[in-house]
Amino acid sequence: MQVFYDRASFSQYINHLKENHKTIGFAPTMGALHNGHLSLYQVARQQNNIVISSIFVNPTQFNNPEDLEKYPRTIDADIKILDSSTFVDAVYIPRVEDIYPNGMVSKHYNFGGIENEMEGAARPGHFDGVGTVVEALFLQVRPDNAYFGEKDFQQLKIIEKLVMLSGLDIKIHGVKIHRQDNGLAMSSRNMRLSADEREASTIIYKTLKNVNDWFRVLSIPEIKKRVEDIFSNNGMQLEYFLIADEDTLKEVNFFSEDKNYRAFIVVHVGSVRLIDNMHLG
Ligand code: PAF
Repeated sequence: MQVFYDRASFSQYINHLKENHKTIGFAPTMGALHNGHLSLYQVARQQNNIVISSIFVNPTQFNNPEDLEKYPRTIDADIKILDSSTFVDAVYIPRVEDIYPNGMVSKHYNFGGIENEMEGAARPGHFDGVGTVVEALFLQVRPDNAYFGEKDFQQLKIIEKLVMLSGLDIKIHGVKIHRQDNGLAMSSRNMRLSADEREASTIIYKTLKNVNDWFRVLSIPEIKKRVEDIFSNNGMQLEYFLIADEDTLKEVNFFSEDKNYRAFIVVHVGSVRLIDNMHLG
């Protein structure tokens, strides 16, 4: 696996691939890699000649400076994980100036309103930061296919919109949430959980499965009340739980026949903010 630490050498590599008509599959990351990331590269490996990873902890998408500071940085271990996976041909680890040549500011995007729901409302500026870094990476990597985990389902929808708005010829693929055996969704933030907190966090997935059982059996206000009770009884802080239309990502209060729905949840376990979601039905 090749490792590139700056834009100039990486661009030469990409130009060479393009001259040789290689198809490129790409999944950007912020490092602290786990099996969830590898599942993206495993899918990409089957569909492309060349698979590229990137590692860049993007400051502009963190609205909370403490969260940015505490974000795990494990670059040497990450390179080893990618190398031994055999799914990845090259990893790009850009410097700040490679992504932000004109200073570290986000572009402002209008993604048709989905940027204002859920994570957009909870983390102001977050999706402008994500859009800015992903657009910059797309322009440098020039992939044919790009892969994003469904754990960040709203981010996946934002990236689909970003590609449409910017006219980039990149196919976006959503990849199913990768879970530990106990159901906890794989996340770089899980590294910051103690053993007890990890165990306690399994309630998130169990609750989502219950919600799926209650789908179209109970009303949405009844489902929300049950979820709120579960978390108030076990002492974890539920930041939000809601059921949204999968296309608009707007919260709904009743189900219609012809729509797809997904449950979204954010829970604070100790000082760690965990997010998860599940398609209903
Ligand atoms: O999902 C992530 O890890 C990040 O939001 C991404 C897409 C790598 C952009 O920094």
